Amino acid sequence: MGLRMPFGGEEMTATDDHADFIRGLPKAELHLHLEGSLEPEQMFEFARRNRVSIPFRTVEEVRAAYSFSNLQDFLDIYYEGANVLRTEGDFHDLACAYLARAAADGVRHVEVFFDPQTHTDRGIPFSVVADGFLAALDEGAKRFGVSGGLIMCFLRHLDEDAAFATLDAAEPYLDRLLGVGLDSSELGHPPSKFARVFAAARERGLHLVAHAGEEGPPDYVREALDILHVERIDHGNRALEDGALVARLRETGMTLTVCPLSNLKLRVVDELIAHPLKRMLDLGLRATVNSDDPAYFGGYVAENYRAVARALGLSRDELAQLARNSFAGAFLDEATKARHLAAIDAYLEGTAAAS
Ligand code: HPA
Ligand code: ZN
Repeated sequence: MGLRMPFGGEEMTATDDHADFIRGLPKAELHLHLEGSLEPEQMFEFARRNRVSIPFRTVEEVRAAYSFSNLQDFLDIYYEGANVLRTEGDFHDLACAYLARAAADGVRHVEVFFDPQTHTDRGIPFSVVADGFLAALDEGAKRFGVSGGLIMCFLRHLDEDAAFATLDAAEPYLDRLLGVGLDSSELGHPPSKFARVFAAARERGLHLVAHAGEEGPPDYVREALDILHVERIDHGNRALEDGALVARLRETGMTLTVCPLSNLKLRVVDELIAHPLKRMLDLGLRATVNSDDPAYFGGYVAENYRAVARALGLSRDELAQLARNSFAGAFLDEATKARHLAAIDAYLEGTAAAS
């Protein structure tokens, strides 16, 4: 419970105050899997309208199944859930619902992942997925003022030829995609497995990111940097085990897209008070806070900020630094970044005056 303080004639807890501060803080989200925003209610709705059977009778049953002991546990159920997504309208509605929630959390810009192979491997054309998501991003910009881009991830448990086939399927869309990423089961599937396809994506002018150091060792983070030439590391927690790597990440200003509630749910950390986010900030790393797969991990981006703020006792300055990092690490031009950073400054001035 927070301290009780007088505020505008009404009583308000310090914890509530932090919640309001976080919600209003302009921020970007850089690590969000659109398929991971599929809420149980939507799963039932899409299953009904597409006449797909699912192994659950109630929303409560679905939520009860969301208990994971590691990344693979989660991935098994996540890929099964994605099976209800069939039409362009489904992909559009899924992404629109996410963007509405993000906007309500103070998000001004998103760079979101999708997993084309999860859909093309069950006969859904690449165009159905991409057209639905791209239409939603256009709509999100108009309706909610949230700008955004799509990052297509290769599934690392599949081989590199399959990743190349995905890059080929994406060819007509390349000018509308922001970049490529690498996700799915990390252990046993090092970044080096995808060296050639990342080089091909780079030649096509796409931005490059990769999940590394979530469950995999610091060497996977090194491979992502040296072999794939990524511009951001998704997660990166285990980089902290290697001092020389930490120094390098700090010196190069490498962005880490950290996902606290995901780390808790997938047992990357045993409890949030042991989460390395504050340590990352103290080490001078450009850490950001993100929600990863919010429908499965129990919270969208503002809830991730709130949960770590509570567990680690983060100050307003640290929360603002995390928000600044999110724009600094985004694939935006310098003028647009400066505009977002100025919005954070204006917000801080406004909230300082009000408190
Ligand atoms: N890690 C790896 N693959 C994923 C994740 C993740 O956190 N979420 C969705 N696919
Ligand atoms: Zn992820």
